[in-house]
Amino acid sequence: MQPQKLYEGKAKIIWATEHPEEVAQQFKDDATAFDGQKKGRIASKGVRNARISAILFKLLEEHGISTQLVEQIFEDTLLCKKLDMYPVEVVVRNYAAGSICKRLGFEEGAAMKKPMLEFFLKDDSLGDPLITEAHIEELELVSEAEREEIKRLALKINDVLSRFFAERNILLVDFKLEFGKDAAGNIVLGDEISPDTCRLWDAGTRKKLDKDRFRRDLGEVEEAYEEVLNRVEK
Ligand code: TMP
Ligand code: ASP
Repeated sequence: MQPQKLYEGKAKIIWATEHPEEVAQQFKDDATAFDGQKKGRIASKGVRNARISAILFKLLEEHGISTQLVEQIFEDTLLCKKLDMYPVEVVVRNYAAGSICKRLGFEEGAAMKKPMLEFFLKDDSLGDPLITEAHIEELELVSEAEREEIKRLALKINDVLSRFFAERNILLVDFKLEFGKDAAGNIVLGDEISPDTCRLWDAGTRKKLDKDRFRRDLGEVEEAYEEVLNRVEK
């Protein structure tokens, strides 16, 4: 029987599996930026991001964070628990970069006094806008209790990942998380954590080792993903 494609996004394909409570996430080499206006391919990105995301989700599980990951089943595919995803992206920022520099005039690389949390609405037709907790409340996207839990989890994930990357001479500048609810109603980390969804800088030189190399045409894009994989596998 042909596997059934449930959903195809910009960077991943979600496949049905024989198990109704599990899906397979296949990571693609396709890359987009600026709401899909810029399109391209990053050779071997699918395989590298699948591996990086699997390693990081496993690390988080070891630190008591529930994640969607069941196991890696192909080099570009992760078997995952099916989740009912919240339509919200959670961004954690340790240093200023990207949209916060444009929005508020922060200088790139400026350290935040403490980790900063932001929420974005997952809605391509609106361009995934920044939203406040008042907006989340009014739109009834996430209950207050769930929001508090998501904020706690995001900060804990930041602690674990920042330490892990620091040991590999990488600065975790910022990253994006997506959460969902499992069949039992638990809040679980979903989607992926990879150089597509994080800003990662070499701690010594501050060289960018993430998707900004693609977004900003900086060159050495594949090399950056390979470098992150090599350091994460150590
Ligand atoms: P931003 O500076 O563009 O708001 O991005 C913050 C972080 O979120 C950065 O590490 C990249 C990640 N991100 C995604 O994973 N998906 C997205 O669609 C966007 C806009 C950012
Ligand atoms: N992935 C998003 C897009 O395709 C944005 C980004 O990562 O820059 O537009």
